[in-house]
Amino acid sequence: MAKRTIVSLPGDGIGKNVLEETIRVLDAAGFDAEYVEGDIGWEFWRSEGNPLPQRTIDLLEKHKVALFGAITSKPKDAAFEELAPGLQEKGLVYSSPIVGLRQHFGLDICLRPCKSYIGNPLNFVKRGVGDVIDEPAVDVAIFRQNTEGLYGGVEWSDPPEKVYDALMTHPKFVKNFGDTPKEEISVSTRIFTKKATERILRAAFDHAKKYGYKSVTVCEKPNVIRETSGMMYKMAQQIQKEEYPNIELWNTNIDAQMMWLTKNPETYGVIVAGNMFGDIVSDGFAGLIGGLGFACSAQFNPDSGVAVFEPTHGSAPKYADYEISIVNPIAMIESACMMLDFINENGIAAKIRKAVAEVISEGKVRTYDMMKMSGRADVVEKGAASTTQMADAVIAKL
Ligand code: NAI
Ligand code: MG
Repeated sequence: MAKRTIVSLPGDGIGKNVLEETIRVLDAAGFDAEYVEGDIGWEFWRSEGNPLPQRTIDLLEKHKVALFGAITSKPKDAAFEELAPGLQEKGLVYSSPIVGLRQHFGLDICLRPCKSYIGNPLNFVKRGVGDVIDEPAVDVAIFRQNTEGLYGGVEWSDPPEKVYDALMTHPKFVKNFGDTPKEEISVSTRIFTKKATERILRAAFDHAKKYGYKSVTVCEKPNVIRETSGMMYKMAQQIQKEEYPNIELWNTNIDAQMMWLTKNPETYGVIVAGNMFGDIVSDGFAGLIGGLGFACSAQFNPDSGVAVFEPTHGSAPKYADYEISIVNPIAMIESACMMLDFINENGIAAKIRKAVAEVISEGKVRTYDMMKMSGRADVVEKGAASTTQMADAVIAKL
């Protein structure tokens, strides 16, 4: 019997391709696991009116750890039109199954590491002192609060009376919006709780301590967004002072951070932020290390041990129908390495990371993105590696 059961959630489009190749890499590296496939994504929305069927939730409840490819989401109207006959009358409303998973299992900690590989032609370079070309080595770990804040879903257009009345108790609302008709107002809330804020901060500091990062940067905007960002920074100061005196606490504003990230990205270690700013800053750093083909992530609930590992890219529908899959599987492979770390299979993770690093530094096998080609069906004829060939190259190095 296999040692571990992993839920595989291929989802839609290229999610299927990258997950299949990643499982081949895991097998070749000697990871002893059985994979049970869970249904998730567009196909199930269309046929069942639910992109996240209960049976998939049950699977994850049982086995705790999942590898997730990607899903396709479409706007409300398009989602409705694609529903199977018989479902359209049921008043179903589409919502993203990955957001659903996060909320159902309280996967409030999202970790997105961005570490540059030596020899990656997509690494960020800049002109340094004396006009030399400088290629800063990026090694940051971004902790993004994954369930609250601006993505918490508490929002209204033409808010209900009670909400409007409550808003009218705030002097700034009266001053800035009091003259605007209620039906012309849209409100998206940004709610932070102490509990979740403390959990993401602690996860960030723990990670810094465990992996020897010298600093934790709170990347918010406490000087303007005083209540939520302000609370996060204040709590970070206290946690750092009382529990992590040897780790430096830095404070940056999200806007300035996006500028500094190309100026001196090598300076940063662990970064922690709320949901939206964490999303933004992690995409920013991912761009410095090769973009979507390299951006991996973990989301987990430290209490229940439920964890989902996924590349940050989506289902790239335009590439999904190519006869030969051309997309880079490294982001998914790296996400699987994060899973291995999570379940204490660090040795296998290290082995796979080393193999990936060797393939990249050798430079003989490169997917289309690494060759700076645009993603057409003929890139493999033109010398780019396919998804399968990249996985084969990694397997050969194992
Ligand atoms: P996307 O990430 O699917 O693709 C954007 C572009 O990035 C692609 O056209 C391609 O040029 C490049 N790309 C993506 N993955 C790549 C890889 N592994 N290797 C090389 N190049 C890669 O984002 P897009 O086009 O905005 O969204 C497509 C669909 O995916 C939408 O339905 C969207 O809702 C969904 N999506 C799902 C996510 C998830 O499952 N977590 C995240 C982001 C988008
Ligand atoms: Mg994003």
